[in-house]
Amino acid sequence: MVRLRRLSPSCKIRNMRIITERKSPEQVSADALVLPVFEGGGERRFGAVELAEAGEITGKFGELTLVHHPQNVAAHRVLFAGAGKPDKFDSAAARKLAGIAARHLKGKSVKRIAFAFDPAMADAVVEGAVLGNFEPDRYRTANDKKSIDQVIVLADGVAPGVEQAVERGRVIAEAQNLTRELVNEPANRLTPRLLAEAAFRMAAGHGLECEILDRPQMEKLGMGALLGVAQGSAEPPALIVIRYRPASPPGPSGYPGPHLGLVGKGVTFDTGGISIKPADGMEKMKYDMGGGAAMIGALQAVAQIKPAIPVTAFIPAVENMPGSRAQRPGDIVTAMSGKTIEVINTDAEGRLILADAITYARRQGCTHLVDAATLTGAIVVALGHLNIGLFSNDDALRDRVLAAASAEGERTWAMPLDEDYKDYLKSAFADLANVGGRWGGAITAAMFLKEFAEDTPWVHLDIAGTAWLDEEKPYLAKGPTGVPVRTLVRLAAEWK
Ligand code: BES
Ligand code: ZN
Ligand code: ZN
Repeated sequence: MVRLRRLSPSCKIRNMRIITERKSPEQVSADALVLPVFEGGGERRFGAVELAEAGEITGKFGELTLVHHPQNVAAHRVLFAGAGKPDKFDSAAARKLAGIAARHLKGKSVKRIAFAFDPAMADAVVEGAVLGNFEPDRYRTANDKKSIDQVIVLADGVAPGVEQAVERGRVIAEAQNLTRELVNEPANRLTPRLLAEAAFRMAAGHGLECEILDRPQMEKLGMGALLGVAQGSAEPPALIVIRYRPASPPGPSGYPGPHLGLVGKGVTFDTGGISIKPADGMEKMKYDMGGGAAMIGALQAVAQIKPAIPVTAFIPAVENMPGSRAQRPGDIVTAMSGKTIEVINTDAEGRLILADAITYARRQGCTHLVDAATLTGAIVVALGHLNIGLFSNDDALRDRVLAAASAEGERTWAMPLDEDYKDYLKSAFADLANVGGRWGGAITAAMFLKEFAEDTPWVHLDIAGTAWLDEEKPYLAKGPTGVPVRTLVRLAAEWK
């Protein structure tokens, strides 16, 4: 276990106060009151009728109409937020709309925002506002940075459970923003060691156990696949383990119950190694630890939501560099499981480090595994930037993860993983090759991982297309998205 002496700069999350007020929209004192207005009308308050008649308010989703000093309202402004068709307005739409409103108002230096949404959607509204408030700007020194100070969720006197929903929304969105802060860190400021320190700090702050395996420990465990990737960098690798344990574990006593293992790819920078990547766009490869950062975020939320199932995160953290000690194409490494791998392409490093982390997670007693990784460019070709690619060896776990993802609005699409794809990974000299040729690149990558999941129910989430936004959205800043934190937290929270 590594002793942690030096602490890296902490990932400061903006301090935004979130409160519930059981008041009417007319009564709330705020800089702005956000009111959803639906297509087909119905809203008669605050001058909406006139604006609708003038054609200024149509209710089209995302349309914003700002009115200053409205009559008979305590708030300084009313923002009519187009909510679209009422039957399409689910919690994903509410999250987006709250984000759109929050970012619009923040841009106008509005500090205190009240949301008059259906209280049944309070958690999604809070998430939208907290996620919308995030900017990846911690290294910009300008002093004109804008931020929301306070979010007020309005609920009428009788709506039950709103305070709890607001709290849940805050916990989840702050966890997602922690992931985004980590992913945004450049590789000179977030080495494998510093990622381990960030995980350790999160764990210490939330009463979780954190263990960091160093190179000698990995050597003892025979993690040849992980170590092969790490050997090209002067930065030492780390295998980060974070443990959450429920007060009373599920299942009949004496019988080991389910234990969820979350494995996240933690490549703090991916140059490709000796199979080096082109220079154009390489700077983005700082986000190649997005899967690992999602596990750190998920565990922060799990620590607060306290699900019934034990959850352990495993994050193999390395830097993939073409140093003089780097592994070469053609090298053969022995993974912890005993399988030998011919490294045809050193840029297919994610599957190598995940192979050993998955084996380690199985040996630690995990009964179900979910991994998340920015694993392949091929998943971006297949699904674009809209869907996470899901692969699995177990229909029941696949369905659980798909259900959680759908409930959280993190679009996810199940991809095939027939046994026949294994032929693509044939090597003349070892048990497996680490690449599968030109076609079906996301599938062959998943197939490679499947060889290490063996008979443990396992889901692989390829987030290469979804962990980073190349262009700002009205509800989300450009840069890290923090997927699939919400899916993972819900999966753990709803485990029965
Ligand atoms: N980190 C990359 C995958 C990636 C590519 C993520 C683009 C985000 C955007 C991964 O390590 C990689 O380089 N994969 C190779 C695999 C290939 C060599 C078989 C790829 O996808 O090109
Ligand atoms: Zn790579
Ligand atoms: Zn990579």
